[in-house]
Amino acid sequence: MSYPYQIKSLEEYHAAYKKSVENPEAFWGEIAANFIWRKKWDKVLDWNFKEPKIEWFKGGQLNITENCIDRYLETMGDKPAIIWEPNNPEERTRVVTYNRLHKRVCQFAQVLINNGVKKGDRVCIYMGMVPELAYAVLGCARIGAVHSVIFGGFSAQSIADRLDDAHAEFIVTCDGAYRGAKDIPLKSVIDDALIGNKTVKRVIVYTRTRTPVSMIKGRDVWWEDEMEHAETQIEKDGVVSFPAETMDAEDPLFILYTSGSTGKPKGVVHTIGGYMVWTNYTFVNVFQYQREQVHFCTADIGWITGHSYILYGPLSAGATSIMFEGIPTYPDAGRFWDIIDKYKVNILYTAPTAIRSLMGFGLDPLKGKDLSSLKILGTVGEPINEEAWHWYDEHIGKKKCPIVDTWWQTETGGTLISNMAGITPSKPSWATLPMPGVQPLLVDESGKEVTEKDEHGLYKGNLCIKAPWPGILRTTYGDHERCRTNYFATYPDLYFTGDGALKDDDGNYRITGRVDDVLNISGHRIGTAEVENAINMHAGVVESAVVGYPHDVKGQGIYAYVIYNGHHGDDEMRRKDILLTVTRMIGAIAKPDKIQFVSGLPKTRSGKIMRRILRKIAEGETENLGDISTLLDPGVVEEIKNGRV
Ligand code: WTA
Repeated sequence: MSYPYQIKSLEEYHAAYKKSVENPEAFWGEIAANFIWRKKWDKVLDWNFKEPKIEWFKGGQLNITENCIDRYLETMGDKPAIIWEPNNPEERTRVVTYNRLHKRVCQFAQVLINNGVKKGDRVCIYMGMVPELAYAVLGCARIGAVHSVIFGGFSAQSIADRLDDAHAEFIVTCDGAYRGAKDIPLKSVIDDALIGNKTVKRVIVYTRTRTPVSMIKGRDVWWEDEMEHAETQIEKDGVVSFPAETMDAEDPLFILYTSGSTGKPKGVVHTIGGYMVWTNYTFVNVFQYQREQVHFCTADIGWITGHSYILYGPLSAGATSIMFEGIPTYPDAGRFWDIIDKYKVNILYTAPTAIRSLMGFGLDPLKGKDLSSLKILGTVGEPINEEAWHWYDEHIGKKKCPIVDTWWQTETGGTLISNMAGITPSKPSWATLPMPGVQPLLVDESGKEVTEKDEHGLYKGNLCIKAPWPGILRTTYGDHERCRTNYFATYPDLYFTGDGALKDDDGNYRITGRVDDVLNISGHRIGTAEVENAINMHAGVVESAVVGYPHDVKGQGIYAYVIYNGHHGDDEMRRKDILLTVTRMIGAIAKPDKIQFVSGLPKTRSGKIMRRILRKIAEGETENLGDISTLLDPGVVEEIKNGRV
């Protein structure tokens, strides 16, 4: 079986692109017809970016789990849907066939019902990378509950904020998670998050690490007991099945929190129909997936990449998707290559930061590893530098695998700009061409389209998108106005990505990075304001300013300038205290790499911090700082320059 909408040549790409722009309704209507709908949509697309209001396949009814599981049972029930590779390579691997996935998802759907979860309720999922995480996510989708997965690296305080924002009454977690040499006590983090919480009614706990856990009577239940009970309830003549709830195309599927340039993380909301079509379409086309191929996306399901390209994209295409519990450097830096060799992986999709980190170990970890099964390589999450691109091409792809550089965001649901493997040309460190349905536009600060080339013969501007594609976010949970101001108000009638980009004469795009106050640390998004707020929570801190600086492995590092007024300990001790405070408030991923204590910050007379100057100093540029005469106290710049860490 092939995919009728899989683009097979450059000409087909151009034809599809043209049609998608000229007649999006006809284009997407035809593609959506390849899915299982209980009721056909009334209208393919209705939208305006003013409110914004975006509706795809309105009036259509479906259940995404039928599209990801049930429709494949008859013809390929025994095909592996998920191959799970444990953190410890000595441990037994688990192969979850489509039949098994169906059974487990049905059981868990019943578990949710038994625990009082109803359609539309928000379920927070805080688990390690175990197959049960997939069952939990899909179990929610089966009954129409809205899942909100939280990455295992976030702290109790972050979880508490998200639970509160999402009004979540249900949590699914694990006793602990294995990551490399560490055991992370997830349940205990949840317990901390729930101190003082009055809304959470039920916590379902899966046993992974056998870490001791406190189980509160009436609130906490064991996953294993619940699943066993559910099985006896819904088994009939040896078959375990639970009917999928009928959902509207525009019902929410999930909330995923992501950082912006202001305030707390926002709950990005994706809806069922459009997200399904978009993740499937981009998966099939960008990776040129062929049946029987093994797809390995190394992301964590706590981030959008895992949602879209470990679970929904591959499963809706009937693919085999690898789910890896561990990290690339455990027990040694050859782990990815072992996995590729072991499962004869055909598609490897990872982040530039992982490539750079593995490059640092040299070629020894590659010795004796058979990577000949690889056909396609992909990257995501941050711009890929040319050096890493060439290393990936030469040593992993052996110069025979196209590399797709996929640019997208939590808000976009799936890839917006990327080459299609072997179909459209690649260009090192360029994301290249937009997907069908995606209409990028580069604008200047005032919102005018950039029509003049720069000194390198390229167009340079802020990246916007002119019209909706099926996977675009619909709202930010509980605060539609925030969605509007964040994404649709900077430039009227455009979706603003927050990224800067270059464009060449052939229409290829190169993403240069964020132009707002959002950092990209190892491919993880963190807002500078968020980190500043966390630092400012520390007793003794008067004020702080956070900027990014280039980091060899992480892409960007976090540099914090801190005004401190306490008398406790020396600078080294204070640094450590601040790091702990940030770890408590957000999580270890937001810890500054460098902290410099200063007596003042460069501010304009109106009190605005001149971040441009701080950024330059953090980057090591101390000479050309530009005009500093507008500063309230220009002297402070000299002090900061001299105290650089
Ligand atoms: C950046 C991850 C350059 C970009 C899917 C974007 C990239 C942010 C690329 C979104 C790429 C992602 N080239 N930059 N191929 N892919 N980015 O929401 O700055 O975690 O805005 O989604 O990552 O990060 P998010």
